[in-house]
Parts: sequence; C-alpha cells; structure tokens
Amino acid sequence: MCGIVGYIGEKKAKPILINGLLKLEYRGYDSAGISTIEGSSISNIKTKGRVSALENIPEIQQLFGNVGIAHTRWATHGKPSTLNSHPHLDNSKVFAVVHNGIIENYTELREFLSQNGYHFLSETDTEVIPNLIHYYFTKNNCSFLQAVHKACSKLKGSFAIEVISTLFPNTMIVVRKDSPLVIGKGNNETFISSDIPAILSFTKNFYLLNDLEFVEITKNEISFYDINLNPINKELKTMEWDATAAEKDGFEDYMLKEIHEQPRAIRETIGSHLTNINSCDFEDITLSKDDLTNISQIYLVACGTAMHAGLVAKNLFEKCCHIPTCVDIASEFRYRDPIINNKTLAIFISQSGETADTIAALKLAKANGAKTIAISNVIGSSITREADFCLYTHAGPEIAVASTKAYTSQIVLLSMLAICFAERLASCDKVFLQELRSEILSLPEKVEIILKENIEQIKNLSKEIYQEKDMFYLGRGTDYNVAMEGSLKLKEISYIHSEAYAAGELKHGTIALIENGITVVSILTDENLMEKTISNIQEVITRGAKTVVVTNLELPNKKYDIIINIPKTSPLISPILSVIPLQLIAYYVSKEKGLDVDKPRNLAKSVTVE
Ligand code: G6P
Repeated sequence: MCGIVGYIGEKKAKPILINGLLKLEYRGYDSAGISTIEGSSISNIKTKGRVSALENIPEIQQLFGNVGIAHTRWATHGKPSTLNSHPHLDNSKVFAVVHNGIIENYTELREFLSQNGYHFLSETDTEVIPNLIHYYFTKNNCSFLQAVHKACSKLKGSFAIEVISTLFPNTMIVVRKDSPLVIGKGNNETFISSDIPAILSFTKNFYLLNDLEFVEITKNEISFYDINLNPINKELKTMEWDATAAEKDGFEDYMLKEIHEQPRAIRETIGSHLTNINSCDFEDITLSKDDLTNISQIYLVACGTAMHAGLVAKNLFEKCCHIPTCVDIASEFRYRDPIINNKTLAIFISQSGETADTIAALKLAKANGAKTIAISNVIGSSITREADFCLYTHAGPEIAVASTKAYTSQIVLLSMLAICFAERLASCDKVFLQELRSEILSLPEKVEIILKENIEQIKNLSKEIYQEKDMFYLGRGTDYNVAMEGSLKLKEISYIHSEAYAAGELKHGTIALIENGITVVSILTDENLMEKTISNIQEVITRGAKTVVVTNLELPNKKYDIIINIPKTSPLISPILSVIPLQLIAYYVSKEKGLDVDKPRNLAKSVTVE
C-alpha cells in the first residue's frame, strides 16, 4: 500500500528520497511523487506509474533542496493519475503533504473548505489536509505545528502524514494515527518512513511513534509532542536488522531469496525459546497455570498468509492444551460480534504488525476484556504496542509481497507457544511433547534438504503447468491447511485460478470441475489420513486429472504423475516443510510466465487500510 519517505538534513534530499521510494516499491503502488523545498517555493513532481517513471521526468534533475517528502500511492480515492498522486499542496502552494491512510470524513471537510473559498484539483481524500492546515494557519495566526495539530483534530480515519512549508523551509511536521511511521535519526539529519527497510541503509536508530504523537523536525533537532502538544521524551531504539538483509543478495527475486532464508529464519525464531528438548521457554508471557486454566477460548486472528499460519496453530493449541481454538479472519472477527470476555485469549498474527483489520480486531478484543498476545516480525510495530504481550518471529525483513518465511516462522513460534502452555497446564503426555520439541529443532535442516533436493524437479514441473487456467490443491487436516496456503501463493503471483479443498469435501461439489488434464496438487503427510486422501486422489485420477503429490510417506502404489518427496516430521507441524515445494511451484510458474514475482498486480505487502 502507500509508502512514505522524508528527509531533512545537510544533504540533497532527492537521491535519498528516491532510494527510499525504490525500497518501498514492494508494498505495491500505482503512482509516485516527490516535493522538495527549493528556495522560497515547493517543487512538486509526480506521476502515474513506477518510481522509474518519476526519475525520468526531466524536472526532477532540478531538485537540489535538502528538505523533502516523497510517496508511493496505492489508489483508494480516485484512479491512479498524476493529479491524484501525492504530494498534495494547498491552494496557495505553501504547504505540501504526503499521506498514508484514509480520511473518512473528507467529503464533509471538502464541503467546509469549499464554503471557505478553497478548491480541489484531485479526487483524493488527502487534498483536504494541506488546505485544512492552511485554513487554520491563516485563521488562527498560529505556529506551523499548531496548524497541523488543529487540522489533524478534524480528521477522522487513519493517517500518517509529513508536512513541509515554504514559510518554514527548515522544518517538517509529522504525525501518525493508525498508520505506520518511524523516525530514523542520523548525524544532523533525519529520515522519516512508513517502513523501516526503506531507510535502514541510512540509519539503524529509530524513534517509534504512537498514535497522535506530533513531531517537529529541524535540521538538528527532533521534538516530540503528545496529543495536547505537551513536549514528551521518546526512547531511541536500535534495529538489529542488517541493511543487506533488505537487499536481493545475488538472488533474482526477493521471494526466491526469502524462500531460501527459511532455514535461518526458523533457527532464529526458535532462538532461546527452545534450546533443548525438555521445555519451551516464554518467560515474558507471564500467564500462569491458573491464568491458562481459566481460559475457555483461544482466538487466532489474522489476515492472508498469517491467517493460514493460524489454521495450523489451531490444531496445536487444541491437541496440546485442550482449549477450544478458533481461527478468525481479522476483517470478519471485528464485525461478527464474537464472544469475548476475561476467559478469552486472543492471539493476533501479523508479519508487518500494521494490517489495519488486525489492529482493529486487537483493539476490540482488548476492549472486551480478552488477554491479548501479538505476534509480529517488526519490532515496535502497532500490534506489538497494543497487545498485553508480544512475541517476535525473527525472519528478518520480508520484502516480496507473497509471504514465505514469515509463514513458516509464525508456525514455528506458535507451535512452541502451544507447547509451553501445555507444559504449564500439564495437559499433555510428556513424551509426545518431547518428540514435538525435537521435531521442531530438526526443522531447519529438513528445510535445507528440500531446498537442495527438490528445486530441479519443481522447475521442470512448472514448465509443464504454467499455462494452466485452473488448478486444485487437496489435503486433509493440516495438509488441507497448507493446501490453502499453496493455492494462495499460486494465485498471488502467477494469476492462475486455484482452489484448495479439504479432500473429503471434493465430492460435495468441486469434483464437477475436474476434467481431463487439469492439475491437482495433493499434500499427504499424515499416515492416519493417508488411505482416505488416496481414495480422493483416485477419484480425480479417474476423471483425467494430472496429479502432483507432495508427501513424506511411503505411498502404496505410484500411480501419480509427479511425486515430490519431503522429509518426515510430525503431522502437526508438517506444513512448515510441505509448504516449501508449494512456494517453489508458485515462484517458478510465475517466472515461466514472465511475471513480476515480487510485485504482483493489485496486491500490497502491508494492507494498512480496511
Ligand atoms: C497482505 C500481504 C500478505 C499478508 C497479509 C497480512 O495481503 O500481501 O502477504 O499475508 O497482507 O499481512 P500481515 O503483515 O498482517 O501478516
């Protein structure tokens, strides 16, 4: 979704802003723009299309200023066009604003401003912001900061904004509400961004903003204010992420690099939580045996791939802790009036920690008395600051829109958490838990084996299937859960229609779609369900399907077109292994089709609006 960068310091702002925009491309966008202070005016250059199109506009060579703001836009209000792109200026071209989020009352504000003599050039909700700032600045005869503060008090919805002004050429004001924004501190220079990786090559020192905290930034000073404009102190945090972790590092695409990073991501996520097979340690989650005994319902709430990780974790919480566990799509959870009380534990899973629906669902659960845990990959992200407890996956920055290493890391972390709760509750057989811990510890090596042994086979398979129009994924139990993730990966980056089906459900409708030559990918990792799933695969073979089977079992006969063998593990965590071939199928099919793997059409990495 939209991305923001800002710079204020001694250097030329433009190259730093363009560098930041290029790093934000992965979030998904349709237009880009930049404004810098040039003497006594603001230069504003923007265009529909890619950052490269912005760089090709000749006027951009004339930007020399050292204060500037820039933006990649993902259209919500108004089509992608140069006029609708950010930055937006007020009518008198004194204030320039970039904005992420949605101003819900913009129609009302437009009307108010129109009645006061303002006019609008774009169809966006954003354009009300610079005009509103101008209105209060002139009406109240106040400071720059006070004008931005007053304007923000009238905005409903979500916003992260940067404002610059010709009247205050050495100052920038920024503020956020329900939309991410971080301040990176350099030596006499400040970098602002919606996303840490965009400015990670310039600094590792960050201030993380809470909702409605205002920041006034000059070349050598950063001042923070609360919602009432009282000065506040903020703690400077150092990010452990390495800037090169956000580079491609010799891989053709971020997605391929991130698939290959999974052994390390899993190892680092296991970290100190599981150092030997005797116990899982989560000392920061201070829920005692009594607290856990009191819990009657666990909700796992998330969107997209993170929700699929929740589906796998549901089985673990139910099997290990014997607590009924529900998986909810965040955008459904918040509107379905779920039963929440002080016996509820709600766990929110989000790679970015900034998904608008997940944040809203978390606020709802908290307001209704649930105990809340946030699981995120980004230190200090919104959900981690909102929840009672927070846990981190250590997957490193995930840049490709299609999530891979975040998914496997999330399942690993949730598995260890379920085991830890089972230990505290003494709810489960000790040997069973010990075997599960041992299986988790051996996962990184097993992922390495798949990445070493299966790639050529999957590349060849992709050459055979890349022109398919429809595909199906089948499985039972956790194999069905991973089928859903495999199907989502294929849709996201290869644009092939695909559906995941619980194998036993096939006969109740979907089998009508199976015809000669159609590809059906089945996942088979649970010995107890093997026979049943095999008879479902037989049903599609009989109807002419081409069958691909991902398995770690000794199959009784080899009547399948392609068998992808993976290492054995407990069926409870087998999706961490069986998803790897599915990620690779999606990747190589997309490559065969010549598509942009990392930036699939219409998708955004972080969905920060509802
Ligand atoms: C978007 C991304 C997905 C991601 C989902 C949830 O749809 O394209 O890859 O799974 O958002 O994101 P989150 O950051 O909350 O895990």
